[in-house]
Amino acid sequence: MKKTARAHTNIALIKYWGKANSALKTPLMSSLSMTLDAFYTDTTFNHDSSLIEDTFILNGKKQTPEASKRVFNYIHLLQDRFGFNDHFTIESTNHVPTSAGLASSASAFSALATSFAASYDLDLSKKELSRLARLGSGSATRSIYGGFVEWQKGNDDASSYAIPIDEHPDLDLSLLALEVDTKQKKISSTEGMKLAQTSPFYEPWIKRNKQEIAEIKQAISDKDFTKIGELSELSANEMHACNLTAKEPFTYFEPETIKAIKLVEDLRKKGIECYYTIDAGPNVKILCTLRNRKEIISAVQKTLSNVKIVVASFGPGVTLL
Ligand code: ADP
Ligand code: DP6
Ligand code: CO
Repeated sequence: MKKTARAHTNIALIKYWGKANSALKTPLMSSLSMTLDAFYTDTTFNHDSSLIEDTFILNGKKQTPEASKRVFNYIHLLQDRFGFNDHFTIESTNHVPTSAGLASSASAFSALATSFAASYDLDLSKKELSRLARLGSGSATRSIYGGFVEWQKGNDDASSYAIPIDEHPDLDLSLLALEVDTKQKKISSTEGMKLAQTSPFYEPWIKRNKQEIAEIKQAISDKDFTKIGELSELSANEMHACNLTAKEPFTYFEPETIKAIKLVEDLRKKGIECYYTIDAGPNVKILCTLRNRKEIISAVQKTLSNVKIVVASFGPGVTLL
């Protein structure tokens, strides 16, 4: 029963950054994302009673028990839920840098949940798949769908899942991913969001969540690029401000990250409208429209010569291959 699923990563415009329950990965806030066409994960799940051990192969390399722990625990959790216990092999390829703040865990656990369910012939709805993906990584909850997606925080395992806001947005929106550094980050997202919760700015930020979600949904339905950009930049800065003001302060920013932020600010002053958002890593994503895209790309190439630029737009939801 070998099944392969492809899931795309997503970039949160309104960020998820904190859990109500760490085992269930239910969040303290709702979040809203854009699924990306340029980055994805293909995962094949195979279970067989004749296998003698569990195996995780990532990008062609068999992973050590240590590096496999998170995925093994995840599959055991799912197997317990559905009453299975045979050994399995996971073979996955990331078409996205792993553990670098480009959301590999979002595409990874969305693809893994989907290939797991198909391999065991479970006939699950997208809502159920979204809940299962959440148990692997919070951001994966949203990668089940394409386009604009909201993860409604809910209040328990049953009520915390994503819903599609617009799977095929008719909106001129491009995302430029600036790969500043694709090395494995020192502080995982799971760890980073725990630390951030000790910031005095954390609670006031969470209190604003309902309003921020309502505002971005309005901006999406109004096709208001400016408002979407402003709200996205604000949410990213709120998150990174909590990191900087945590009891043990930290930041994912590198010098090149700040350079990219300043470049976006300068471009805006010159009337070239664009906004940035940054996840748990040093890489910067610029939101822009087609009209300005070429000019922004050449400005980035001039200012940040070592940075690789990946052009992305809306991507699809998870599919079985
Ligand atoms: P990112 O910013 O890339 O999402 P995270 O810290 O959130 O970084 O998650 C990285 C973790 O996700 C990895 O340590 C690994 O456990 C898991 N992961 C990444 N890619 C895969 C994959 N293709 N299959 C299974 N697990 C993966
Ligand atoms: C900054 O989903 O990677 O990208 O749930 O612990 O696996 P875990 O964390 P993860 O965190 C993502 C954080 C973020 C914002 C977002 O995607 O909403
Ligand atoms: Co992640």
